[in-house]
Amino acid sequence: MTAEVFLYKADPVRGAEWAALFREKAPQLAFAQWPYRGDPARVRYLAAWVPPADLSCFPNLEVLFSVGAGIDQFDLSTIPPRVALARMVEPGIVKGMVEYVTLAVLSLHREWLTYRDQQRAAQWQALRVHPARSRRIGVMGLGVLAQAVLGQLRGLGFPCAGWSRSSHTLEGVECYAGADALPAFLARTDVLICLLPLTNDTRGILDRRLFSLLPRGAALVNCGRGPHLDQEALLEALDAQQLSSAILDVCEPEPLPADHPFWRHPQIMLTPHIASMTQPETAVDVILDNIERHRTGQVLTGLVDRARGY
Ligand code: GLV
Repeated sequence: MTAEVFLYKADPVRGAEWAALFREKAPQLAFAQWPYRGDPARVRYLAAWVPPADLSCFPNLEVLFSVGAGIDQFDLSTIPPRVALARMVEPGIVKGMVEYVTLAVLSLHREWLTYRDQQRAAQWQALRVHPARSRRIGVMGLGVLAQAVLGQLRGLGFPCAGWSRSSHTLEGVECYAGADALPAFLARTDVLICLLPLTNDTRGILDRRLFSLLPRGAALVNCGRGPHLDQEALLEALDAQQLSSAILDVCEPEPLPADHPFWRHPQIMLTPHIASMTQPETAVDVILDNIERHRTGQVLTGLVDRARGY
């Protein structure tokens, strides 16, 4: 019997790590990297950042895995309805996001960006240290990444709240749900963290009105997607001191053009979409578990609801 093919189409260097892990953990599957020149009918599973434009060439494809936490880069209309879709929900990507957001929140809380500027100006000036309990954190999105982030920030003593479209109950986190609850959530948020999926409902959500509902001097951390943010609105809010600073891991487009104002803005810290990365060692375990779930008719970890868009 010819082995079923697991096809990988993403960063080839990390793909080589996936290949070694598949050889060790799933020798019964034939692992192949894109471009694939074998028999398309053997491809049962595909892991991709951006899938091939025409998936109809794989008549037996059963599951399409995103190698990232998001699936907004997929054009759902081109993916046959019979193919199950899964986001990447694996311990390595979760830990990476917890590290990044904690770093961002502590940098804002402890005025790291100000001290960097003061050092450049040879200025020795202590600012008042405020306790964590005086800095209210608000996370938009309450998925797996957000819940892990909130658990860590709570542990550091920050008052934590979360907002999402559907209602949640999380220990030690004030949970807000739906558009009607957004103003109350924003009014109590000093550091706003965006961890939302990008959908038609969340595109451009970080806009003028939203910034105006935050307390004056609040800060923004965007680890969602670039199109969540209205860039002009952010510049205006920073200039008007409605917002004090922004730490952005994502932007639109990526990378920004060289003359984009975000690069040199004194109150913006930009990182090149590195907040978190899928870790092959842990991701392959989740993928193999998901293949088993699929074979035995169980719900996949990270299963995408096409109607919801994530
Ligand atoms: C990166 O942004 C991802 O979706 O994993």
